[in-house]
Amino acid sequence: MSDSIYQRAANSAEREFELSLRPQRLAEFIGQRNVVENLSVYIQAAKKRGEALDHILFSGMPGLGKTTLANLIATELGSQMHATSGPALERAGDLVGILTNLELNDVLFIDEIHRLPAPVEEFLYSAMEDFHVDIQLDQGPAARSVRVNLKRFTLVGATTREGLLSSPFRARFGVLERLDPYPPSDILEIVNRSARLLDLPMEPQAAALISERARGTPRVANRILRRLRDVAQVKGKGMLTVALAEQGLTMLGIDAQGLTELDRRILKLIADQGGGPIGLKTIAVAVGEEEDTIEDAYEPHLIREGLLAKTPRGRKLTEKAQAMLGKRA
Ligand SMILES: Nc1ncnc2c1ncn2[C@@H]1O[C@H](COP(=O)(O)OP(=O)(O)O)[C@@H](O)[C@H]1O
Ligand SMILES: [Mg+2]
Repeated sequence: MSDSIYQRAANSAEREFELSLRPQRLAEFIGQRNVVENLSVYIQAAKKRGEALDHILFSGMPGLGKTTLANLIATELGSQMHATSGPALERAGDLVGILTNLELNDVLFIDEIHRLPAPVEEFLYSAMEDFHVDIQLDQGPAARSVRVNLKRFTLVGATTREGLLSSPFRARFGVLERLDPYPPSDILEIVNRSARLLDLPMEPQAAALISERARGTPRVANRILRRLRDVAQVKGKGMLTVALAEQGLTMLGIDAQGLTELDRRILKLIADQGGGPIGLKTIAVAVGEEEDTIEDAYEPHLIREGLLAKTPRGRKLTEKAQAMLGKRA
């Protein structure tokens, strides 16, 4: 299915593929110059002072490199990275073992940190600020708590929705970095790097074509490249030509604007309802996709392309989208 290109959850084969393409050093990370420069200064300063790096919060759409950067921070610090995620931490108790196992200057990575339950978030406050936690022992009249000191560590959080983080939580991060979609020239560099790692010979215009259709997202670019490699091997002689790239993109349902089948279904659905506004829930049910996925992975591109608008009463088509759909119908 074309839309698996944009899914957040990768299956294990996909995860392995992503891992194989992940930059191993910060210097290999392409684009996001400001973010990378800031990080390398902070990392060098922390190392020079022999102190733990400040807590860092990354925000941005899926596939822009948040997890990659968290890994690179640990590598550059020469520390271990421990990864978990907001939804995996149901109770404060789930965190205790993780926190007490951290060594000095280790990185604790919490993905989808906006989905941490509030009590877990509050439990983290003292760990982040003062590097200790108070653990509740027993219940009722016998209840008491013990204070456990932690080694100084760096919390790296990643979120697709910075707006959903409470302000006391956000205030506890010393560094907030937002990742924006990459310009096509950066994506082109990423595509070329990945093709090299995959041993995939490619016509330069094929690489350019992929970078234009990847909605500024490295993960999307890599996934498209992976599918097109199959096309090149099955339908061609292993070389990815422009013609094969075009054929492959059509097979994947990705049009010249980088829109997928599901993007087009969302637009058509709203058009069929008089152009909106229509609620996110209704859209999600109608197209059979999770609300979060639509909001995080699909809508930002549609909004950036000037096709969709968010209003207090729901999603609306823009005039540009109306004109585009009118022409197609
Ligand atoms: N700046 C970059 N340079 C090269 N590859 C990148 C870059 N950013 C992301 N990638 C690749 O894109 C994929 C998705 O990145 P990831 O860090 O998992 O995104 P996120 O955590 O933001 O969803 C990874 O396989 C990674 O190799
Ligand atoms: Mg990630």
